[in-house]
Amino acid sequence: MSLPQPCPKNLAEKVVAWQKTSGRHHLPWQNTQDPYRVWLSEIMLQQTQVATVLGYYARFLERFPTVQDLAAAEQDEVMPYWAGLGYYARARNLHRCAREVMEKWGGRFPATAADLATLPGIGRSTACAIAAFCFGERSPIMDGNVKRVFTRYFGIYGPTQKKAVENTLWAKADEMVELAPADLDMAAYTQGLMDLGSQCCTRSKPTCSLCPLQSDCYAHTHQVQSELPSPKERIRQDERYAHLLILELNGQVLLEQRPDKGIWGGLLTLPQFDDASSLHAAALRWSGKKAVALASFQHVFSHFKLHITPWLLHVDETLLAEPTAGQQWHDHESLEQTALPAPVRKLLLGLYQGKNSEQLILS
Ligand code: ADE
Ligand code: SF4
Repeated sequence: MSLPQPCPKNLAEKVVAWQKTSGRHHLPWQNTQDPYRVWLSEIMLQQTQVATVLGYYARFLERFPTVQDLAAAEQDEVMPYWAGLGYYARARNLHRCAREVMEKWGGRFPATAADLATLPGIGRSTACAIAAFCFGERSPIMDGNVKRVFTRYFGIYGPTQKKAVENTLWAKADEMVELAPADLDMAAYTQGLMDLGSQCCTRSKPTCSLCPLQSDCYAHTHQVQSELPSPKERIRQDERYAHLLILELNGQVLLEQRPDKGIWGGLLTLPQFDDASSLHAAALRWSGKKAVALASFQHVFSHFKLHITPWLLHVDETLLAEPTAGQQWHDHESLEQTALPAPVRKLLLGLYQGKNSEQLILS
């Protein structure tokens, strides 16, 4: 027997029907189509939970009942009504937005998602939510709650912060609205998606048994609710080690070309070894002598930290072995003009500017 596949033809209607029986209906920003009130709630709810927002919302509206009142106030008068909500850029944008509504839009919020999205602090999803709630626009939303529902329902893997994943989600959101009947109640649909995400399709232990999408939900079918949405990609800072040989002969230093792939691709650098023993083996082969370790240092790349130990080997006599392909002798003076990796450049210039290597070993 084959497993059910997401079959989203009736998704919007299922969400609306669920919203009517099981969604939230008495939040203070519902049952109004005043864009000022809806806008304020959406901005407050961006990073703050409903329970916290309720009190702030009431106090704010009591002091600034209309967009005119807010625009007429000074920024300093607004901040106390936001204090404690956090993310204070939101409050500053809120005030700027109110002034822009007065100045550019004659005191009335524009009535389309596209125009709303031009205002300070109003992103794509918020603009679509306001347009759907206040003007019935068939505009999709994609906030944190909806991302959770959609990644699970459709089985969309990958961190939702990634552009490609985000684009897929928006495309699905668009498609759901397009598939929906012409008379879909956009406010109920929009609120229903938000409510489904916060009441039913919760981050941990979603109550799939009460969810209207259960019958063809990917995550429920495959029991992978805990794997979706995919966790944010962590930047792994792993540790790597490099041992660099500073082989000196007659005022020259041996450099070699790095392979095109990998770190420092194509640059000239010191002969590099993964560990001290392979460096020692090479030093013995070249000169019959042991190299001396200088102070180690670190260089941070985007995905790893490189611990670099430079080793100095000064040879007066002739070498026992010849440089191999890709290795060349360079005068100390020419190093400044050479395409060296930054930490190698720093190392060598530090070594040769003013000091000779014997002094360094002795010090
Ligand atoms: N979060 C964002 N918008 C919301 C809304 N309209 N109702 C409840 N929670 C929300
Ligand atoms: Fe979320 Fe479960 Fe509903 Fe799927 S069935 S959308 S996992 S609550």
